[in-house]
Amino acid sequence: MIKYLGSKRTLIPRITSIVDALPDVRRVCDLFTGTTRVAQALKLRGYHVVANDSATYSYELALALIEADRDKLDIDRLRAWIAELNALPGYRGYYTKTFCEAARYFKPFNGMRIDAIRDAIDDLPANRHERAILLVSLVLAADRVDSTTGVQMAYLKQWAPRSYNPMELRLPDLLSGSGTAVREDAISFVEAGGTRDVDVTYVDPPYNQHSYFGNYHVWESLIRHDKPEVYGIAKKRVDTTENRSVFNSSRQFHAAFSRLLSGIESRFILVSFNNEGYISQEDLIKLLEPKGYVQNVAVDFKRYVGAQIGIFNPSGVKVGKVSHLRNKEHLFLVGDEAAVKAALAPHADESEQLALAIG
Ligand SMILES: C[S@@+](CC[C@H](N)C(=O)[O-])C[C@H]1O[C@@H](n2cnc3c(N)ncnc32)[C@H](O)[C@@H]1O
Repeated sequence: MIKYLGSKRTLIPRITSIVDALPDVRRVCDLFTGTTRVAQALKLRGYHVVANDSATYSYELALALIEADRDKLDIDRLRAWIAELNALPGYRGYYTKTFCEAARYFKPFNGMRIDAIRDAIDDLPANRHERAILLVSLVLAADRVDSTTGVQMAYLKQWAPRSYNPMELRLPDLLSGSGTAVREDAISFVEAGGTRDVDVTYVDPPYNQHSYFGNYHVWESLIRHDKPEVYGIAKKRVDTTENRSVFNSSRQFHAAFSRLLSGIESRFILVSFNNEGYISQEDLIKLLEPKGYVQNVAVDFKRYVGAQIGIFNPSGVKVGKVSHLRNKEHLFLVGDEAAVKAALAPHADESEQLALAIG
């Protein structure tokens, strides 16, 4: 899967075991699905997952890995297309010029293949799920040979060793079963009744100023294929500032999160929260209280790779400090008291649980 800020890879076993322990759950919504990792783990366990995110790359990941049903796909045809795409000679187009010459996200020999493959995908007679699978295969392949620490606000001064490898598209791991991919603003989605027929909503928004649109602009452009004008050393899209999420604004976060939670209609809400964001744990609890009984599980875990090795500017000078390498991630579960208590009971020893009896 792509390297992603705030990816919940390490929390997945806890998330799935909590959802499994809740009564009568068939449909789960992953409201800020990002990489779709959590949604994939839930789909694998047999739930119908509604995977939403405002990012275009995330929507294509959700179409390919959540909505597409492996049992209904022509795998041989997909494999044949992937072989064809891998064999294409490269040429120097937008991606090579922008991301390999003006910037250094990929070695130019791989960038030229990205150009050729991205154009060719749109010429294939693929349906929207097949097209999403090919696009995801390209993004995953490019991510394996990039030269960043996992965010696209900068690239490494010295080429990363992996960037010398020839990029290779592979068929992504596809899952059987049903799901739904959505690309909506989360607040608009819940207010339009998006979680009405859902049993559990998993909520993992951005909690600080780091904009996903800006940090993953290469994937956004590669999927949209709109070849936008770019600016600055990182060669971000010129529309980056217009696409800031309300969840990235310290001024707007509280009201936005409050509105989001009020709009959620599922029986249970599971919220990921870390102690580095705009909202305190106390304020979060106050916002969750009207939705039901609230209980928390705290999990200690390592920060993302960029934070561990420091932040560098394009000349390789360290510009960001490594403040601390571990942070507390919390999961808050909200809903019927007995069900919440029962679902979190197995996690009692690994948590500082706050027993909050609220109506
Ligand atoms: C912390 S990440 C989610 C990570 C995800 N749980 C994972 O494991 O990959 C937050 C996500 O929220 C998305 N996002 C930001 N603002 C949004 C909004 N207003 N509506 C929907 N999604 C939004 C971002 O694109 C990003 O993918």
